Amino acid sequence: MDFLTDKFLIPADRFDGPVLVTGAGGCIGAWALAILSRSGISCVAADLQDDRTRPALIMGRDAAADLIWETCDVTDAVRLGDIVQGHNNQAIIHLAGLQVPFCAANPALGARVNVEGTINVLQCAREAGIKRTAYASSVAAVGMPPGGPYKETLYGAYKLVNEHSAYVYWADWQVPSVGIRPNVVYGIARDQGMSSLNTQAIQAAAMGLPFDIPYTGNYSWLYAGEAAAAFIASVSQEGTGAPVFDLNGTCDTIENGMAILRELETGAQVSASGNPFPFPSDLDDAPLRAHTLEYPSISLQDGIQDTHRAFKQLIESGQLTQMPG
Ligand SMILES: NC(=O)c1ccc[n+]([C@@H]2O[C@H](COP(=O)([O-])OP(=O)(O)OC[C@H]3O[C@@H](n4cnc5c(N)ncnc54)[C@H](O)[C@@H]3O)[C@@H](O)[C@H]2O)c1
Repeated sequence: MDFLTDKFLIPADRFDGPVLVTGAGGCIGAWALAILSRSGISCVAADLQDDRTRPALIMGRDAAADLIWETCDVTDAVRLGDIVQGHNNQAIIHLAGLQVPFCAANPALGARVNVEGTINVLQCAREAGIKRTAYASSVAAVGMPPGGPYKETLYGAYKLVNEHSAYVYWADWQVPSVGIRPNVVYGIARDQGMSSLNTQAIQAAAMGLPFDIPYTGNYSWLYAGEAAAAFIASVSQEGTGAPVFDLNGTCDTIENGMAILRELETGAQVSASGNPFPFPSDLDDAPLRAHTLEYPSISLQDGIQDTHRAFKQLIESGQLTQMPG
């Protein structure tokens, strides 16, 4: 399904060594690996397990099987350091993390993975002299400090701590980084987390199942390929400082997204009801785009169309047989 990544390929000469992608088995990690690999850029995948299911949905089973894959818990600083040294990584895209519901279910584990794991990545970059590190913060950080207009979560608190840690790593030890606050990501392989329901609606339509999204109104439609491309662009040059940027993608209503879907899949029983999603939907991508090398963007129509087309193919080929649990 090369059509998924065709729009996001980049020149291979932007990198002079392998890129480490943590959280490689997750949604954005799978997209980052697919784009890097198809662009001919050497990359190393790291995740808790060697589970290539999500990368295979995007890049195909054969290409996913060819990935260099290291099992690694990001809370294990020694193991992480060995991987970076062993592969002579020149850039790190740090995506490993636990999302909102998992942090709420196990706060201590959430802190270890999201906070300590990010410290370990920054420390590895420091020890290896890596000047190209990007890490995933989140729009959930806007819920902090408490008492503002947006929902407070432990996940958001952890992500905000990471931004402050990255600042100190630059200020005290000149370890550069770029923190990216993705808003709501949708697309193939987005199958978990409280904001994955718009993607699930597209899958349900492709499977002929009814689906209701329990929020309405404006929403951030950040296509997964565009999110991965932004992370790659952020490590395509040596960094300076520890800036943090919003990454929003397209702001449009859930209802308009479902209308596009009903055009693509005649008779689709997809709907939206309830209150607006409790996070902002129209953050500004311009500061990130001004800071990084250029990366492609994709319209809502094209993003939903590609996702729907890919779901249809994955279902027809038997690679995807059921809705996320
Ligand atoms: N998807 C979104 O809408 C969104 C929005 C804002 C921020 N983010 C952040 O972007 C990053 C990637 O998001 P995603 O949607 O790809 O997430 P995901 O949940 O699909 O994937 C996260 C990956 O991290 C791995 N992981 C968990 N604990 C680990 C550990 N201890 N060591 C190593 N790996 C571990 C998981 O196995 C999983 O493969 C995360 O940090 C997330 O918090 C995502």
